[in-house]
Amino acid sequence: MKPFALGWGKAVRLALLVGALLALYVLAVARHDERARIREQPVTLTPGCEEKLARYGLAAGSGYASPYTLARSGQARVKRGYSAEDVRAIQRGCNIIDDLQGQLAADPSRERWNSTRFVRGTHTSCDHCHQGIGDKQTAAGVAQTGSLSLAASWVMADMYDQFTGILLPYELRQMQCYINSSNGYKPNVADDLIRDVTAYSRFLAAALDLRFGNHYAEQGIDEVTAASTLKRGDDYVRGAALYKEKCARCHGPQGLGTVVDGKALYPAVAGPNAFNQQSRNNFSFVSTILPGFLCRNMPLGEEGTLTNQDCRDIGFYVSNMPRPAGDKDGPLAALWHQLMMRVMPTLIHTIETWQRPEVTQESGT
Ligand code: HEC
Ligand code: HEC
Repeated sequence: MKPFALGWGKAVRLALLVGALLALYVLAVARHDERARIREQPVTLTPGCEEKLARYGLAAGSGYASPYTLARSGQARVKRGYSAEDVRAIQRGCNIIDDLQGQLAADPSRERWNSTRFVRGTHTSCDHCHQGIGDKQTAAGVAQTGSLSLAASWVMADMYDQFTGILLPYELRQMQCYINSSNGYKPNVADDLIRDVTAYSRFLAAALDLRFGNHYAEQGIDEVTAASTLKRGDDYVRGAALYKEKCARCHGPQGLGTVVDGKALYPAVAGPNAFNQQSRNNFSFVSTILPGFLCRNMPLGEEGTLTNQDCRDIGFYVSNMPRPAGDKDGPLAALWHQLMMRVMPTLIHTIETWQRPEVTQESGT
Protein backbone atom coordinates (compact mmCIF):
# COMPACT_ATOMS: atom_id res chain seq x y z
CA MET A 1 0.00 0.00 0.00
CA LYS A 2 1.35 3.42 -0.96
CA PRO A 3 1.46 5.79 2.03
CA PHE A 4 1.06 8.90 -0.11
CA ALA A 5 -0.70 8.34 -3.44
CA LEU A 6 -0.03 11.45 -5.48
CA GLY A 7 0.39 10.50 -9.15
CA TRP A 8 1.99 12.76 -11.75
CA GLY A 9 -1.35 13.74 -13.23
CA LYS A 10 -2.66 14.93 -9.90
CA ALA A 11 0.54 16.80 -9.09
CA VAL A 12 0.41 18.67 -12.39
CA ARG A 13 -3.24 19.61 -11.84
CA LEU A 14 -2.48 20.81 -8.35
CA ALA A 15 0.47 22.86 -9.60
CA LEU A 16 -1.71 24.41 -12.30
CA LEU A 17 -4.36 25.32 -9.76
CA VAL A 18 -1.86 26.88 -7.38
CA GLY A 19 -0.24 28.70 -10.32
CA ALA A 20 -3.59 30.11 -11.47
CA LEU A 21 -4.47 31.27 -7.98
CA LEU A 22 -1.05 32.89 -7.62
CA ALA A 23 -1.47 34.65 -10.97
CA LEU A 24 -4.88 35.97 -9.88
CA TYR A 25 -3.38 37.14 -6.62
CA VAL A 26 -0.53 38.96 -8.41
CA LEU A 27 -3.06 40.54 -10.78
CA ALA A 28 -5.25 41.69 -7.88
CA VAL A 29 -2.23 43.23 -6.13
CA ALA A 30 -1.21 45.02 -9.34
CA ARG A 31 -4.73 46.39 -9.85
CA HIS A 32 -4.87 47.49 -6.26
CA ASP A 33 -1.54 49.33 -6.61
CA GLU A 34 -2.71 50.94 -9.83
CA ARG A 35 -5.85 52.25 -8.13
CA ALA A 36 -3.81 53.51 -5.21
CA ARG A 37 -1.56 55.36 -7.68
CA ILE A 38 -4.53 56.86 -9.56
CA ARG A 39 -6.02 57.95 -6.23
CA GLU A 40 -2.93 60.07 -5.65
CA GLN A 41 -2.95 61.80 -9.05
CA PRO A 42 -4.16 65.39 -9.25
CA VAL A 43 -7.66 65.58 -10.77
CA THR A 44 -8.50 67.62 -13.85
CA LEU A 45 -11.97 69.00 -13.23
CA THR A 46 -14.74 69.45 -15.79
CA PRO A 47 -15.52 73.15 -16.38
CA GLY A 48 -18.76 72.76 -14.39
CA CYS A 49 -16.99 71.21 -11.41
CA GLU A 50 -14.16 73.73 -11.59
CA GLU A 51 -16.71 76.53 -11.20
CA LYS A 52 -18.84 74.86 -8.55
CA LEU A 53 -16.05 73.63 -6.29
CA ALA A 54 -14.25 76.99 -6.49
CA ARG A 55 -17.48 78.80 -5.60
CA TYR A 56 -17.91 76.51 -2.58
CA GLY A 57 -14.29 77.11 -1.55
CA LEU A 58 -13.07 73.50 -1.64
CA ALA A 59 -9.45 73.34 -0.47
CA ALA A 60 -7.35 71.16 1.78
CA GLY A 61 -7.03 72.50 5.32
CA SER A 62 -7.88 71.89 8.95
CA GLY A 63 -11.15 73.83 8.86
CA TYR A 64 -13.83 74.53 6.28
CA ALA A 65 -16.21 77.51 6.28
CA SER A 66 -18.65 77.65 3.36
CA PRO A 67 -18.52 80.85 1.26
CA TYR A 68 -22.09 80.04 0.10
CA THR A 69 -23.44 79.99 3.65
CA LEU A 70 -21.45 83.08 4.54
CA ALA A 71 -22.83 85.03 1.58
CA ARG A 72 -26.41 83.98 2.29
CA SER A 73 -26.63 84.22 6.06
CA GLY A 74 -23.71 86.46 7.01
CA GLN A 75 -22.02 83.72 9.01
CA ALA A 76 -20.59 80.29 8.40
CA ARG A 77 -19.75 77.72 11.04
CA VAL A 78 -16.19 76.40 10.73
CA LYS A 79 -16.41 72.66 10.21
CA ARG A 80 -13.76 69.99 10.10
CA GLY A 81 -11.63 70.49 7.01
CA TYR A 82 -10.49 68.18 4.26
CA SER A 83 -7.22 66.38 3.66
CA ALA A 84 -5.63 66.54 0.21
CA GLU A 85 -6.91 63.00 -0.35
CA ASP A 86 -10.47 64.01 0.63
CA VAL A 87 -10.28 66.90 -1.83
CA ARG A 88 -9.29 64.59 -4.68
CA ALA A 89 -12.15 62.19 -3.85
CA ILE A 90 -14.65 65.07 -3.84
CA GLN A 91 -13.27 66.31 -7.15
CA ARG A 92 -13.53 62.89 -8.77
CA GLY A 93 -17.07 62.51 -7.39
CA CYS A 94 -18.05 65.80 -8.99
CA ASN A 95 -16.54 64.71 -12.33
CA ILE A 96 -18.51 61.44 -12.20
CA ILE A 97 -21.82 63.26 -11.69
CA ASP A 98 -21.10 65.92 -14.29
CA ASP A 99 -19.55 63.72 -16.94
CA LEU A 100 -20.19 60.04 -16.23
CA GLN A 101 -19.05 59.02 -19.71
CA GLY A 102 -15.77 60.90 -19.46
CA GLN A 103 -16.60 62.78 -22.65
CA LEU A 104 -14.93 65.92 -21.29
CA ALA A 105 -11.88 64.13 -19.94
CA ALA A 106 -8.40 63.70 -21.40
CA ASP A 107 -8.09 60.36 -19.59
CA PRO A 108 -11.46 59.22 -18.22
CA SER A 109 -10.09 56.15 -16.46
CA ARG A 110 -7.83 58.38 -14.38
CA GLU A 111 -10.34 61.04 -13.46
CA ARG A 112 -13.47 58.95 -12.89
CA TRP A 113 -12.33 55.42 -12.09
CA ASN A 114 -13.44 54.50 -15.58
CA SER A 115 -17.09 54.90 -14.68
CA THR A 116 -18.17 54.02 -18.23
CA ARG A 117 -17.60 50.33 -17.49
CA PHE A 118 -20.75 50.47 -15.37
CA VAL A 119 -22.93 51.97 -18.11
CA ARG A 120 -24.12 50.28 -21.30
CA GLY A 121 -25.18 53.25 -23.42
CA THR A 122 -23.12 56.22 -24.52
CA HIS A 123 -25.43 59.05 -23.43
CA THR A 124 -26.20 58.73 -19.73
CA SER A 125 -24.71 61.13 -17.24
CA CYS A 126 -25.96 61.51 -13.66
CA ASP A 127 -26.23 65.26 -14.29
CA HIS A 128 -28.94 64.74 -16.94
CA CYS A 129 -31.40 63.98 -14.16
CA HIS A 130 -29.53 65.19 -11.06
CA GLN A 131 -29.14 68.58 -12.70
CA GLY A 132 -26.80 71.34 -11.57
CA ILE A 133 -24.25 68.55 -10.90
CA GLY A 134 -26.58 67.22 -8.21
CA ASP A 135 -27.23 70.70 -6.81
CA LYS A 136 -29.72 72.55 -9.01
CA GLN A 137 -30.27 76.18 -8.04
CA THR A 138 -31.85 79.32 -9.41
CA ALA A 139 -29.53 82.11 -10.56
CA ALA A 140 -29.98 83.59 -7.07
CA GLY A 141 -28.64 80.38 -5.50
CA VAL A 142 -31.92 78.98 -4.21
CA ALA A 143 -32.31 75.19 -4.21
CA GLN A 144 -35.16 73.79 -6.29
CA THR A 145 -38.01 71.68 -4.90
CA GLY A 146 -37.82 68.07 -6.06
CA SER A 147 -34.57 68.59 -7.96
CA LEU A 148 -32.95 65.24 -7.01
CA SER A 149 -30.36 67.05 -4.89
CA LEU A 150 -27.53 64.73 -3.93
CA ALA A 151 -26.68 66.91 -0.92
CA ALA A 152 -30.20 66.68 0.50
CA SER A 153 -30.18 63.00 -0.28
CA TRP A 154 -26.90 62.41 1.55
CA VAL A 155 -28.07 64.05 4.78
CA MET A 156 -30.92 61.52 4.86
CA ALA A 157 -28.11 58.94 5.29
CA ASP A 158 -30.39 55.96 4.92
CA MET A 159 -34.06 55.96 4.20
CA TYR A 160 -36.97 53.69 3.58
CA ASP A 161 -37.41 53.40 -0.14
CA GLN A 162 -40.87 54.72 -0.86
CA PHE A 163 -41.68 52.00 -3.39
CA THR A 164 -40.19 48.90 -1.79
CA GLY A 165 -40.15 49.88 1.88
CA ILE A 166 -36.56 48.63 2.12
CA LEU A 167 -34.10 50.65 4.21
CA LEU A 168 -31.41 51.80 1.79
CA PRO A 169 -28.15 53.52 2.68
CA TYR A 170 -26.83 56.20 0.34
CA GLU A 171 -24.46 53.78 -1.39
CA LEU A 172 -27.26 51.40 -2.37
CA ARG A 173 -29.36 54.26 -3.70
CA GLN A 174 -26.48 55.18 -5.98
CA MET A 175 -26.17 51.59 -7.13
CA GLN A 176 -29.84 51.54 -8.17
CA CYS A 177 -29.21 54.51 -10.41
CA TYR A 178 -26.36 52.73 -12.22
CA ILE A 179 -28.47 49.66 -12.86
CA ASN A 180 -31.70 51.10 -14.22
CA SER A 181 -31.59 54.89 -14.71
CA SER A 182 -28.20 54.54 -16.39
CA ASN A 183 -29.03 51.10 -17.83
CA GLY A 184 -25.75 49.70 -16.55
CA TYR A 185 -24.15 47.39 -14.06
CA LYS A 186 -23.97 47.46 -10.29
CA PRO A 187 -20.69 48.78 -8.91
CA ASN A 188 -19.40 47.12 -5.75
CA VAL A 189 -20.64 48.94 -2.66
CA ALA A 190 -17.02 49.77 -1.75
CA ASP A 191 -16.03 50.77 -5.28
CA ASP A 192 -14.10 54.03 -5.52
CA LEU A 193 -16.86 55.31 -7.81
CA ILE A 194 -19.44 55.03 -5.03
CA ARG A 195 -17.08 56.39 -2.39
CA ASP A 196 -16.16 59.43 -4.48
CA VAL A 197 -19.78 60.34 -5.21
CA THR A 198 -20.54 59.95 -1.51
CA ALA A 199 -17.59 62.23 -0.66
CA TYR A 200 -18.85 64.81 -3.17
CA SER A 201 -22.44 64.67 -1.91
CA ARG A 202 -21.24 65.02 1.67
CA PHE A 203 -19.17 68.05 0.70
CA LEU A 204 -22.19 69.63 -1.04
CA ALA A 205 -24.21 69.17 2.15
CA ALA A 206 -21.47 70.94 4.14
CA ALA A 207 -21.23 73.76 1.59
CA LEU A 208 -25.01 74.27 1.65
CA ASP A 209 -25.11 73.84 5.43
CA LEU A 210 -27.71 71.08 5.33
CA ARG A 211 -28.29 69.36 8.66
CA PHE A 212 -27.96 65.63 9.05
CA GLY A 213 -31.24 63.76 9.44
CA ASN A 214 -33.36 66.64 8.13
CA HIS A 215 -35.62 66.34 5.13
CA TYR A 216 -35.28 69.08 2.52
CA ALA A 217 -37.69 69.92 -0.29
CA GLU A 218 -34.97 69.53 -2.94
CA GLN A 219 -34.55 65.83 -2.10
CA GLY A 220 -36.09 63.41 -4.60
CA ILE A 221 -38.65 64.35 -7.23
CA ASP A 222 -41.68 66.56 -6.94
CA GLU A 223 -43.98 63.82 -8.15
CA VAL A 224 -47.05 64.44 -10.30
CA THR A 225 -49.86 62.04 -9.48
CA ALA A 226 -52.92 61.34 -11.61
CA ALA A 227 -55.01 63.01 -8.88
CA SER A 228 -53.22 66.31 -9.50
CA THR A 229 -54.40 66.50 -13.14
CA LEU A 230 -57.71 67.17 -14.86
CA LYS A 231 -58.37 63.45 -14.27
CA ARG A 232 -59.09 62.73 -17.87
CA GLY A 233 -56.58 59.88 -17.91
CA ASP A 234 -53.13 59.67 -19.43
CA ASP A 235 -53.55 60.30 -23.12
CA TYR A 236 -51.18 58.73 -25.64
CA VAL A 237 -52.34 60.78 -28.62
CA ARG A 238 -52.07 64.09 -26.77
CA GLY A 239 -48.69 62.98 -25.41
CA ALA A 240 -47.45 62.18 -28.90
CA ALA A 241 -48.54 65.56 -30.24
CA LEU A 242 -46.96 67.40 -27.31
CA TYR A 243 -43.74 65.40 -27.66
CA LYS A 244 -43.47 66.34 -31.35
CA GLU A 245 -44.15 69.96 -30.58
CA LYS A 246 -42.01 70.46 -27.48
CA CYS A 247 -39.39 67.74 -27.19
CA ALA A 248 -38.52 66.21 -30.56
CA ARG A 249 -36.29 69.06 -31.69
CA CYS A 250 -33.79 68.22 -28.97
CA HIS A 251 -34.40 64.58 -28.05
CA GLY A 252 -35.17 63.49 -31.61
CA PRO A 253 -38.43 62.33 -33.21
CA GLN A 254 -37.82 58.79 -31.90
CA GLY A 255 -36.34 59.91 -28.57
CA LEU A 256 -32.89 58.69 -29.57
CA GLY A 257 -31.15 61.91 -28.52
CA THR A 258 -28.77 64.22 -30.35
CA VAL A 259 -25.06 63.53 -30.42
CA VAL A 260 -22.60 66.20 -31.54
CA ASP A 261 -18.86 65.49 -31.77
CA GLY A 262 -19.26 62.24 -29.83
CA LYS A 263 -20.92 64.00 -26.92
CA ALA A 264 -24.61 63.50 -26.04
CA LEU A 265 -25.80 67.08 -26.37
CA TYR A 266 -29.41 66.05 -25.77
CA PRO A 267 -29.65 62.65 -24.09
CA ALA A 268 -31.72 59.79 -25.41
CA VAL A 269 -35.09 59.28 -23.70
CA ALA A 270 -35.68 56.03 -25.61
CA GLY A 271 -33.63 53.35 -27.36
CA PRO A 272 -30.39 51.64 -26.32
CA ASN A 273 -28.82 54.75 -24.73
CA ALA A 274 -31.74 55.68 -22.49
CA PHE A 275 -32.88 54.63 -19.00
CA ASN A 276 -34.36 51.14 -19.03
CA GLN A 277 -37.79 49.57 -18.41
CA GLN A 278 -37.21 49.31 -14.66
CA SER A 279 -35.92 52.80 -14.09
CA ARG A 280 -38.31 54.79 -11.98
CA ASN A 281 -38.17 57.33 -14.79
CA ASN A 282 -40.12 54.86 -16.87
CA PHE A 283 -43.74 55.96 -16.62
CA SER A 284 -45.11 52.45 -17.06
CA PHE A 285 -43.04 51.33 -14.03
CA VAL A 286 -43.59 54.35 -11.72
CA SER A 287 -46.01 56.85 -13.17
CA THR A 288 -45.34 59.87 -10.94
CA ILE A 289 -41.59 60.48 -11.30
CA LEU A 290 -41.03 61.29 -14.98
CA PRO A 291 -44.00 63.72 -15.08
CA GLY A 292 -42.57 65.34 -11.93
CA PHE A 293 -39.20 65.73 -13.62
CA LEU A 294 -40.73 67.09 -16.83
CA CYS A 295 -42.97 69.63 -15.14
CA ARG A 296 -40.00 71.12 -13.29
CA ASN A 297 -37.17 70.75 -15.78
CA MET A 298 -38.37 70.42 -19.38
CA PRO A 299 -38.52 71.69 -22.10
CA LEU A 300 -35.05 73.02 -21.31
CA GLY A 301 -35.18 76.81 -21.44
CA GLU A 302 -38.98 76.85 -21.00
CA GLU A 303 -39.20 75.05 -17.68
CA GLY A 304 -42.50 75.24 -15.83
CA THR A 305 -44.61 75.78 -18.96
CA LEU A 306 -46.19 72.31 -18.99
CA THR A 307 -49.34 71.51 -17.04
CA ASN A 308 -49.56 68.41 -14.83
CA GLN A 309 -51.80 66.80 -17.44
CA ASP A 310 -49.25 67.58 -20.20
CA CYS A 311 -46.45 66.01 -18.18
CA ARG A 312 -48.38 62.81 -17.59
CA ASP A 313 -49.50 62.57 -21.20
CA ILE A 314 -45.93 63.02 -22.43
CA GLY A 315 -44.65 60.59 -19.79
CA PHE A 316 -47.12 57.97 -20.96
CA TYR A 317 -46.14 58.51 -24.59
CA VAL A 318 -42.39 58.35 -23.88
CA SER A 319 -42.79 55.12 -21.88
CA ASN A 320 -44.24 53.49 -25.00
CA MET A 321 -41.09 54.15 -26.96
CA PRO A 322 -38.80 51.10 -27.04
CA ARG A 323 -36.02 50.94 -24.45
CA PRO A 324 -33.78 48.26 -22.90
CA ALA A 325 -35.13 45.70 -20.44
CA GLY A 326 -34.50 46.25 -16.72
CA ASP A 327 -32.39 44.10 -14.43
CA LYS A 328 -35.31 41.99 -13.22
CA ASP A 329 -37.07 41.54 -16.57
CA GLY A 330 -35.41 38.24 -17.49
CA PRO A 331 -33.79 37.09 -20.76
CA LEU A 332 -36.98 36.71 -22.84
CA ALA A 333 -38.13 40.25 -22.13
CA ALA A 334 -34.58 41.46 -22.77
CA LEU A 335 -34.65 39.83 -26.21
CA TRP A 336 -38.09 41.23 -26.94
CA HIS A 337 -37.04 44.77 -26.04
CA GLN A 338 -33.85 44.44 -28.11
CA LEU A 339 -36.02 43.46 -31.05
CA MET A 340 -38.40 46.37 -30.45
CA MET A 341 -35.48 48.82 -30.31
CA ARG A 342 -34.22 47.52 -33.66
CA VAL A 343 -37.58 47.46 -35.44
CA MET A 344 -39.75 50.22 -34.03
CA PRO A 345 -37.84 53.41 -34.97
CA THR A 346 -37.72 52.48 -38.68
CA LEU A 347 -41.29 51.23 -38.62
CA ILE A 348 -42.67 54.37 -36.98
CA HIS A 349 -40.61 56.57 -39.25
CA THR A 350 -41.93 54.76 -42.32
CA ILE A 351 -45.54 54.95 -41.16
CA GLU A 352 -45.30 58.62 -40.30
CA THR A 353 -43.64 59.71 -43.52
CA TRP A 354 -46.13 57.61 -45.44
CA GLN A 355 -49.11 59.20 -43.68
CA ARG A 356 -47.81 62.74 -43.54
CA PRO A 357 -45.00 63.42 -45.99
CA GLU A 358 -44.37 66.91 -44.52
CA VAL A 359 -42.95 65.37 -41.32
CA THR A 360 -39.87 64.35 -43.30
CA GLN A 361 -39.02 67.90 -44.17
CA GLU A 362 -39.79 69.33 -40.73
CA SER A 363 -37.60 66.99 -38.74
CA GLY A 364 -34.98 66.72 -41.44
CA THR A 365 -34.76 62.95 -41.14
C1 HEC B 1 -32.50 59.07 -16.17
C2 HEC B 1 -32.44 59.83 -14.95
C3 HEC B 1 -31.39 59.51 -13.91
C4 HEC B 1 -30.04 59.28 -14.09
C5 HEC B 1 -29.29 59.24 -15.40
C6 HEC B 1 -29.48 59.08 -12.79
N1 HEC B 1 -30.45 59.19 -11.83
FE1 HEC B 1 -30.19 59.01 -9.82
N2 HEC B 1 -32.18 59.16 -9.55
C7 HEC B 1 -33.13 59.42 -10.53
C8 HEC B 1 -34.44 59.42 -9.94
C9 HEC B 1 -35.74 59.69 -10.69
C10 HEC B 1 -34.27 59.16 -8.56
C11 HEC B 1 -35.35 59.12 -7.48
C12 HEC B 1 -35.98 57.79 -7.38
C13 HEC B 1 -36.99 57.74 -6.24
O1 HEC B 1 -37.53 58.77 -5.86
O2 HEC B 1 -37.17 56.64 -5.75
C14 HEC B 1 -32.84 59.01 -8.35
C15 HEC B 1 -32.27 58.77 -7.12
C16 HEC B 1 -30.91 58.78 -6.88
C17 HEC B 1 -30.32 58.72 -5.57
C18 HEC B 1 -31.09 58.66 -4.28
C19 HEC B 1 -31.71 60.00 -4.05
C20 HEC B 1 -32.67 60.04 -2.91
O3 HEC B 1 -32.83 61.13 -2.36
O4 HEC B 1 -33.26 59.03 -2.58
C21 HEC B 1 -28.96 58.77 -5.73
C22 HEC B 1 -27.91 58.77 -4.64
C23 HEC B 1 -28.71 58.83 -7.15
N3 HEC B 1 -29.91 58.84 -7.81
C24 HEC B 1 -27.45 58.87 -7.73
C25 HEC B 1 -27.24 58.82 -9.11
C26 HEC B 1 -25.94 58.67 -9.71
C27 HEC B 1 -24.63 58.56 -8.96
C28 HEC B 1 -26.14 58.66 -11.05
C29 HEC B 1 -25.11 58.49 -12.15
C30 HEC B 1 -24.40 57.23 -12.14
C31 HEC B 1 -27.56 58.78 -11.30
N4 HEC B 1 -28.19 58.88 -10.09
C32 HEC B 1 -28.14 58.81 -12.55
C33 HEC B 1 -32.86 59.62 -11.86
C34 HEC B 1 -31.62 59.45 -12.47
C1 HEC C 1 -33.72 72.74 -25.80
C2 HEC C 1 -33.54 71.33 -25.83
C3 HEC C 1 -34.47 70.46 -25.01
C4 HEC C 1 -35.84 70.39 -25.09
C5 HEC C 1 -36.76 71.22 -25.97
C6 HEC C 1 -36.24 69.34 -24.19
N1 HEC C 1 -35.15 68.81 -23.57
FE1 HEC C 1 -35.15 67.25 -22.27
N2 HEC C 1 -33.19 67.53 -21.92
C7 HEC C 1 -32.38 68.43 -22.59
C8 HEC C 1 -31.04 68.36 -22.00
C9 HEC C 1 -29.83 69.18 -22.44
C10 HEC C 1 -31.10 67.41 -20.98
C11 HEC C 1 -29.99 67.00 -20.02
C12 HEC C 1 -30.14 67.74 -18.74
C13 HEC C 1 -29.57 69.11 -18.73
O1 HEC C 1 -28.54 69.36 -19.39
O2 HEC C 1 -30.15 69.97 -18.05
C14 HEC C 1 -32.46 66.90 -20.96
C15 HEC C 1 -32.91 65.92 -20.09
C16 HEC C 1 -34.12 65.26 -20.22
C17 HEC C 1 -34.51 64.08 -19.50
C18 HEC C 1 -33.69 63.36 -18.44
C19 HEC C 1 -32.49 62.74 -18.99
C20 HEC C 1 -32.63 61.35 -19.47
O3 HEC C 1 -31.59 60.75 -19.78
O4 HEC C 1 -33.75 60.83 -19.57
C21 HEC C 1 -35.76 63.74 -19.94
C22 HEC C 1 -36.59 62.56 -19.50
C23 HEC C 1 -36.16 64.74 -20.89
N3 HEC C 1 -35.14 65.64 -21.05
C24 HEC C 1 -37.38 64.75 -21.54
C25 HEC C 1 -37.82 65.84 -22.28
C26 HEC C 1 -39.18 66.00 -22.73
C27 HEC C 1 -40.29 64.98 -22.54
C28 HEC C 1 -39.26 67.19 -23.39
C29 HEC C 1 -40.49 67.86 -23.96
C30 HEC C 1 -41.48 68.27 -23.02
C31 HEC C 1 -37.91 67.76 -23.37
N4 HEC C 1 -37.09 66.92 -22.67
C32 HEC C 1 -37.56 68.94 -23.99
C33 HEC C 1 -32.74 69.24 -23.63
C34 HEC C 1 -34.04 69.46 -24.03
